Amino acid sequence: MDRTLFIVKPDGVERGLIGEIIGRLEAKQLRIVAAEMRLIDVKTAERHYAEHHGKPYYDKLVEFMTQGPALVTIVEGPDNTWQVVRGLMGATNAKDATPGTIRGDLAIGLRENLVHGSDSAESAQREIDIFFPDLV
Ligand code: CDP
Ligand code: MG
Repeated sequence: MDRTLFIVKPDGVERGLIGEIIGRLEAKQLRIVAAEMRLIDVKTAERHYAEHHGKPYYDKLVEFMTQGPALVTIVEGPDNTWQVVRGLMGATNAKDATPGTIRGDLAIGLRENLVHGSDSAESAQREIDIFFPDLV
């Protein structure tokens, strides 16, 4: 089995889309093996998005991720589950995301695009360690 980090971002929680979004992962036969509603603090958001440090959108991104509670989860499935989750999410810019994907169906923004999913096996491990350091 393989695990990846998946977050319903503050806009998704605020809009009441947790059930809709998690339902799509469950319908795909992925399992939620950990989940916590959490007000992500600035330090954690900065660690999580370290690779974006210095980008023009970085400050606003950190502000957005810490503006309200997010649902932080670990999703489990077969090999390369991170890739399956990324497929369900759709393109980063929701305006261009394919219909049928979470972003394509439910969002239209670039920053406020509802969800985060790890983009590689290495990112998945790094991000799980950031958000669930005590997990065995
Ligand atoms: O989330 P994803 O991996 O698809 O995209 P990313 O390129 O890793 O960017 C991380 C997040 O930064 C995005 O999901 C957006 O919320 C935000 N972003 C932004 O606000 N403006 C951009 N030009 C690019 C990304
Ligand atoms: Mg990314």
